[in-house]
Amino acid sequence: MVTPQKNSILVVDDTPNNIRVLFDVLRSVGFNVSVVKSGELALEKLSLIQPDLILLDVMMPGIDGFETCRRLKTDPSSKDIPVIFMTVLSDVESKVKGLQIGAVDYITKPIQVEEVLARVKVHLALRNTQIELKNEVTEHLEAEMRLQQTINELQKTQTQLIQSEKMSALGELVSGVAHEINNPVNFIGGNIIHASEYTKNLLKLIKLYQEYYPNPVPEISEEIQEIELDYLRDDLPKLLHSMEVGVQRLQEIVLSLRIFSRTDDTQMKPVDIHQGIDSTLMILGHRLKANKDRQEISIIKNYGNLPLVECYIGRLNQVFMNILTNAIDGLEQAINSQKIFTPFIIIKTEVIDSNFVIISISDNGLGIPKDIQKKIFEPFFTTKSSGTGTGIGLAISQQIIAEKHHGSLECFSEVGEGSEFRIIIPLQQEQ
Ligand SMILES: Nc1ncnc2c1ncn2[C@@H]1O[C@H](COP(=O)(O)OP(=O)(O)OP(=O)(O)O)[C@@H](O)[C@H]1O
Ligand SMILES: [Mg+2]
Repeated sequence: MVTPQKNSILVVDDTPNNIRVLFDVLRSVGFNVSVVKSGELALEKLSLIQPDLILLDVMMPGIDGFETCRRLKTDPSSKDIPVIFMTVLSDVESKVKGLQIGAVDYITKPIQVEEVLARVKVHLALRNTQIELKNEVTEHLEAEMRLQQTINELQKTQTQLIQSEKMSALGELVSGVAHEINNPVNFIGGNIIHASEYTKNLLKLIKLYQEYYPNPVPEISEEIQEIELDYLRDDLPKLLHSMEVGVQRLQEIVLSLRIFSRTDDTQMKPVDIHQGIDSTLMILGHRLKANKDRQEISIIKNYGNLPLVECYIGRLNQVFMNILTNAIDGLEQAINSQKIFTPFIIIKTEVIDSNFVIISISDNGLGIPKDIQKKIFEPFFTTKSSGTGTGIGLAISQQIIAEKHHGSLECFSEVGEGSEFRIIIPLQQEQ
């Protein structure tokens, strides 16, 4: 910041008489005066001092006043210093020339002391006001920047709070449900095996009875007809088998729920990313299924051969959840507007540059226009109606990828072709 009250003046002149008069007059009213005798020396001096005003003679040996002025106006450190020309040339042309190359005023030689003082004072006053204004503007800008920073930080914190609340509520719910379901499911699973065995034995016994007693009493014959024994014998094992399959599926679901809601996420651990994606897909299963308005959203998995990846898997699942939910929302919108009829999501993973894993999730939805693409990672930016979207899914996802995993999350999208979200994270975090 420049202080306006310095009021020092540099006189550039090669005529001893002029120098003496100017020096005495300016000193006598309290200015700091320095003197140099040529344009070259003036430019040299300007690299050392910053006068508030320059009185510049036009005719000097070496570079003349015009050239000196031109040069000092191209240097950012001296270009704002007001220059007053001193010239014996009273023709209009050279005055105009001086003003055109950046002088603020001119004085005609021989010098009139009162005129010099009057002009110097006016231009110094102007210069001082200009500096004060500049300082004020800078202060304002700085204050505004600080305010903006604070707002950004507040928004970030708010985003984190909302999402972590959302996720921990979901995580708790999921882990609670998984825990409650786990016991009865295991209990049914264990007993079904015995039930199948017992049923097989009973059916075998009935068969034996029928072989050795082919003509039972009427009451038994009636009962056999009544319960449709032949059909029962055929159907019961099938029915038990499908129950077994069902229970196995339930057990898988419970396992997925447990993986998804993993809350022991205070430390990074090497994990199977595919397991994380699959458990997230499981949780979203109900949204992928066909319903009365549309067909099923197909998931095309293109999983590469991945090693274990060092990460906070709970946090990564949160990112998968956000991106997949957006893709599903987008696909539903595309279906509703009759733009697509076979919705799909492709999930591709691979190792790149031997040290990074790339996880790409793309959909064949409507795509995102370029002007919207610029904003999607901003907190609270949403194109969804209020109540449907809060606009923090991608903001928090980017934070998780960039800050927690030192990776990157980028969007590639063309209108009419769909959107791809690409996550890149290191396989191992640097210590
Ligand atoms: N796959 C996608 N297809 C089309 N638009 C998308 C897609 N993903 C994100 N967007 C756009 O990016 C915006 C921001 O997404 P973000 O997940 O941050 O917020 P949201 O989904 O609107 O709300 P929230 O996730 O907080 O419930 C969305 O409103 C949508 O306009
Ligand atoms: Mg979202």
